[in-house]
Amino acid sequence: MQIADVQDEIDHELITKAQIASKIHEVAARVSKDYQGRDLLLVAVLKGAVNTISAFSQALSIPVQMDFMSLSSYGSGTESSGTIAIRQDLSCDVRGRHILIVEDIVDSGRTLAWLVEELKRRGAASVEIFALLEKPSRREVDVDVRYRGYEIPDEFVVGFGLDYDERFRNLDSIAVLKPEVYQGE
Ligand code: IMP
Ligand code: MG
Repeated sequence: MQIADVQDEIDHELITKAQIASKIHEVAARVSKDYQGRDLLLVAVLKGAVNTISAFSQALSIPVQMDFMSLSSYGSGTESSGTIAIRQDLSCDVRGRHILIVEDIVDSGRTLAWLVEELKRRGAASVEIFALLEKPSRREVDVDVRYRGYEIPDEFVVGFGLDYDERFRNLDSIAVLKPEVYQGE
């Protein structure tokens, strides 16, 4: 789905499809070099990071394994809290594994900070992060993002996996919604 298909609800496009692809390829080249000869496990949190891990994994030039986790953070519609529950766990044992968490966006950082600690607690050999988007002004918890994509302003964005109320995940670029879409929240 493209911006034109949901024109009435979009305020403006923030990151184009081409920009997303170019950033993902740039990071994938670095990661392929950094993890050359090592056994790498990509971990993505459902559902937002699915588009990112799909494009990213295909852009890598090294073999990797992939696993997924579904988390729920108890918060309001557009904000997460520190209290996180596992809805669906990884299917593999991470003990001794080198892990790269692939994330769509780091907002407060609470979800990622929790996940990094959890994977370390389970005995991962190393845990690093690739985040396609970051909202630096919203950061509440210190998380060390090794591979960074784009920094964006404090605006709620949708597309390329990111949703508002489960909508717009299949938009092929990243966009800011019109304020009226939130009315009634
Ligand atoms: P954090 O724990 O506050 O960093 O929240 C991270 C999660 O909140 C992301 O993985 C997204 O699922 C969601 N999120 C944060 N900001 C946005 C946004 O602008 N649009 C859509 N989802 C968002
Ligand atoms: Mg997410």
